[in-house]
Amino acid sequence: MKRIFITRRLLSIAGEMLSKYFDVDKNTKNEPIHENLLPGIVAEYNGVLSTVCDKFTREVLKKSDKLEVISNYAVGLDNIDVEFANSIGISVYNTPDVVTNSTADLTFVLLLSLIRKISAARKFVRQDKWKSWDPEIFLGEELAGKKIGILGFGRVGQAVAKRALGFGLNVMFYDPFVEVADPSLKPRTTQVPFDELLKESDYISIHAVLTRETRGMINLDSISMMAKKPVILNTARGAIIDTDSLVQALRDGLIRGAALDVTYPEPIRGDHPLCKFENCIVVPHIGTATEECRYNMAELAAQNIITHFGLRQ
Ligand SMILES: NC(=O)c1ccc[n+]([C@@H]2O[C@H](COP(=O)([O-])OP(=O)(O)OC[C@H]3O[C@@H](n4cnc5c(N)ncnc54)[C@H](O)[C@@H]3O)[C@@H](O)[C@H]2O)c1
Repeated sequence: MKRIFITRRLLSIAGEMLSKYFDVDKNTKNEPIHENLLPGIVAEYNGVLSTVCDKFTREVLKKSDKLEVISNYAVGLDNIDVEFANSIGISVYNTPDVVTNSTADLTFVLLLSLIRKISAARKFVRQDKWKSWDPEIFLGEELAGKKIGILGFGRVGQAVAKRALGFGLNVMFYDPFVEVADPSLKPRTTQVPFDELLKESDYISIHAVLTRETRGMINLDSISMMAKKPVILNTARGAIIDTDSLVQALRDGLIRGAALDVTYPEPIRGDHPLCKFENCIVVPHIGTATEECRYNMAELAAQNIITHFGLRQ
């Protein structure tokens, strides 16, 4: 029987599905396995169900002996040297589509919370400062009629566009590799060059995959082209933004704010400069953190392994 290792405590559906076909071992704790254990796991098991915390570098993968498949419980695969894995015969899978709606929803949670100052307003009530209706407190901004620039127009980017259109935003996007096929989006969105997106956007929302090209794409040079001092949102991967540049942009008022589900490095400490700005929200990589999404991810990640070995659930 093939042997599968699950690297993190996940919803039981994953283990239940896999146990029907494989000999399954798992990390039963809700904490990442120590990186020193990964070489041993890739040497002993035929398949691994992994999370973004597990770094399958070339050095780790070189230790693989029996490993045939890695099924990552995420859409991003930047924790795995996929090219090298494939070159030594290991197939790598992810969990696209099932994460799209939850991540797009979170993007708007972050945007609206930031521009309507929800954290400060909530704190105000808890501190018993609400004495009467006040025409001057917590003035934010309205979305309708503004421009959102979406960087990376794949599954999540397009789901964000649909929500943005519902709020009356004008939608621009930059993505060198995408043809918009969705008939509900094509006539209502505008594909623009990168510099135009930077110049014209009131809000910039990042949904590109992390690659050599997109790493550090938002830096002081690109920020200096952001004529409207936009709000920057990142629910993709932290390293697409150069962190020092973002801190400087917030400090110098080059942007109106930032809302980040992902950071670089990740995690960041509570005393990190990004956590100190009133106009910067940082949440701990919770884009996919809904009951529905996590169930579907667990199911799909298990199914990917079952299908890989030519079995049927
Ligand atoms: N915060 C979270 O929990 C969470 C959840 C889901 C997805 N993500 C991340 O969000 C990103 C998007 O996910 P997705 O499912 O939409 O992936 P996707 O593959 O459908 O879309 C990614 C898009 O990035 C585009 N892209 C590649 N290079 C680019 C470049 N140089 N400039 C602009 N665009 C470029 C691709 O053409 C593609 O359309 C991924 O990085 C994923 O890891 C994060």
